[in-house]
Amino acid sequence: MKIEQVGVLGCGLMGSGIAEVCAKAGIQTVVREVNEEFLAKGMARLEKSLARAVDKGKLSAKDRDATVGRLQGTTQDSDLGDCDLIIEAIVENVEEKCRTYAALDKIVKPGALFASNTSSLTITELAMSTERSDRFLGLHFFNPVPIMKLVEVVRTLMTSDEAVESTFDFVKAIGKEPVAARDNSGFIVNRLLVPYLLDAIRAYENGVGSVEDIDKAMQLGCAYPMGPFRLLDFVGLDTTYYIANIMFEEYRETRFAPPPLLKKMVLAGRYGKKSGHGFYQY
Ligand code: CAA
Ligand code: NAD
Repeated sequence: MKIEQVGVLGCGLMGSGIAEVCAKAGIQTVVREVNEEFLAKGMARLEKSLARAVDKGKLSAKDRDATVGRLQGTTQDSDLGDCDLIIEAIVENVEEKCRTYAALDKIVKPGALFASNTSSLTITELAMSTERSDRFLGLHFFNPVPIMKLVEVVRTLMTSDEAVESTFDFVKAIGKEPVAARDNSGFIVNRLLVPYLLDAIRAYENGVGSVEDIDKAMQLGCAYPMGPFRLLDFVGLDTTYYIANIMFEEYRETRFAPPPLLKKMVLAGRYGKKSGHGFYQY
């Protein structure tokens, strides 16, 4: 199946990046938000990212304009009816995701594929909220989407071979590298990355070092592009907290348990870079 039109649900950190890479690759892209305010905010982030690419000489002004021309923002599900693929990147909450899929299942054309960008939920659970579990997969992108090459492609027991094949072709067509991952909470990357990030918070709580020194140590000692606290702020502390709770619930292993400080920071509204304050101030 050829993917000619994509619908993206959510225009937050991830949805805006996913919409950008799809439109840049020549695909008609409709991105849906909950209201005009969030849509405008997400579209502004997307346009800033395109402007950055133009400034760096990675994208011509003509290609930027063509990309923008392929993008449509909406707050209406009905605008997604003709899409060949829906990629959901809304809040990491199973009830909200299932409610959204169940509603769209009735609106989007029957042959279309549904995919979730979830970080930690199992795809099986999400697929069961629709009548199209054979055309339902995980498509896990990485932040910042325009830069990170990887997409984890996750099939369930129910996903058809054709759906998997079309999805691998799609990932390559938008310039990304697919890897196949089993439908286990956290797939490959987050299974390894999330305990590391949570451990950094625990190390800080235990007085191992300051936020700045732990970051500096991992950046200069291991050549990581960012230290764990910069990365936590970048991913979003709210999102990390939801992910940790879901993975802890799934595996019942303490390495996935959210540290008390993470919970307190989320309760205090310190979500990281996106809210202007996390482990650092922006
Ligand atoms: N959007 C778009 N492009 C961005 C960007 C953004 N938010 N931030 C940086 N970039 C681009 C820059 O334009 C630049 O592009 P060029 O190479 O074409 O010049 C490139 O990224 C490098 O940027 P900078 O030189 O400004 O900054 P940097 O060298 O510090 O790199 C970074 C920034 C790419 C974000 C780098 O720090 C990095 O790789 N960090 C780690 C990111 C990471 O681990 N992501 C995975 C998060 S986990 C996840 O996504 C899964 C989950 O489920 C939670
Ligand atoms: P975010 O908070 O930046 O954005 C989520 C957006 O979804 C918000 O703008 C919100 O208004 C919108 N939204 C909520 N309900 C909606 C609905 N029913 N329909 C349309 N839009 C809706 O979150 P994010 O960081 O972009 O994460 C989104 C998803 O991507 C989550 O499942 C997360 O686990 C996953 N993810 C996040 C990262 C990351 O680094 N932040 C990386 C990979 C995957």
